[in-house]
Amino acid sequence: MRSVLQTDEIRIDSWLSEAEERCLANDVLDGLTRPFKELAPKHFYDARGSELFEQICELPEYYPTRAETEILTSCAPEIVRRTGAGELVELGCGATDKARLLLDAMDHAGTLCRYVPLDVSESVVEEAARELVESYDGLKVYGVIGDFERHLERIPPGAGSARLIALLGGTIGNFPPGTRRALLRKIGALLGPRDRLLLGTDLVKDPAIIEAAYDDREGITAEFNRNVLHVINRELDADFSPHGFDHVAYYDRRHEWVEMRLRAIRPCSVLIADLGLRVEFAAGEELRTEISAKFTRPRLEADFEAAGLALDRWFTDEQQRFAVSLASRAEA
Ligand code: AVJ
Repeated sequence: MRSVLQTDEIRIDSWLSEAEERCLANDVLDGLTRPFKELAPKHFYDARGSELFEQICELPEYYPTRAETEILTSCAPEIVRRTGAGELVELGCGATDKARLLLDAMDHAGTLCRYVPLDVSESVVEEAARELVESYDGLKVYGVIGDFERHLERIPPGAGSARLIALLGGTIGNFPPGTRRALLRKIGALLGPRDRLLLGTDLVKDPAIIEAAYDDREGITAEFNRNVLHVINRELDADFSPHGFDHVAYYDRRHEWVEMRLRAIRPCSVLIADLGLRVEFAAGEELRTEISAKFTRPRLEADFEAAGLALDRWFTDEQQRFAVSLASRAEA
């Protein structure tokens, strides 16, 4: 563990060493030697990738952020009233906008005591911590720099009041069904009897709306998708030509998820020097960079049940595009 910051109000611990950061090397070695090439979406989010994602959230086609914000704006007071929560643990926290809606509600209820952001990006956690202790009198922030797939056990025990453990934005949709259930079970293990999971999920809808959200007219999502190649070039001394790949967004109706892919325009041969690996792409060959699953209420209930959780409350936006669920640990 490396201490990043320690003041009266803020403590930030990092569990990411430079060397194993986001385990990029192993993921690239596995993913690019498979018969169907694939990379994990968490590698999009270096500083530029995080910035591009912020821009995506503002795009007219990308509805999930606005829909979730609409839900939290109207339902945060009820969520806090029902749970009595005074502490928010946010997995993959990103920008502070959504946290603020929940912290505001805790503040008004008089329960607010602590915010625990976990993110792979050190700058994201540090900025969130500094901003929020300015905004809320007496708030403590315990930041954890880590990967929520590997560092959940680094989340500190509760400070005393009931906790909300939040995984927002639809991020759970990045995990295929089996991994998703295993992750939900691990998160569930953090919940005490009064604690609740707060989970954001995008919902199944007209495929044209979904595909547009992942293939915007300005091409921001395309640049976000290609960013993973820039990350590999920089971190692993590789020689991808990012513009030799077309951005593809495809909604798979059977699996009810949207996939992002990068399609080689021409045949190409890429050297990933740090791995001593040469990878060949045929013309038209695709590399899958993300799945983003879309949910129905029964599907989510089945996932919760398989993970030892139970759905308590289900909130949607007016147009039923997105859902925020409150779940607890099922009785044994
Ligand atoms: C941050 C994973 C929720 O899946 O919608 C946005 C990422 N990918 N546009 C999503 C993303 C393409 C986003 N999540």
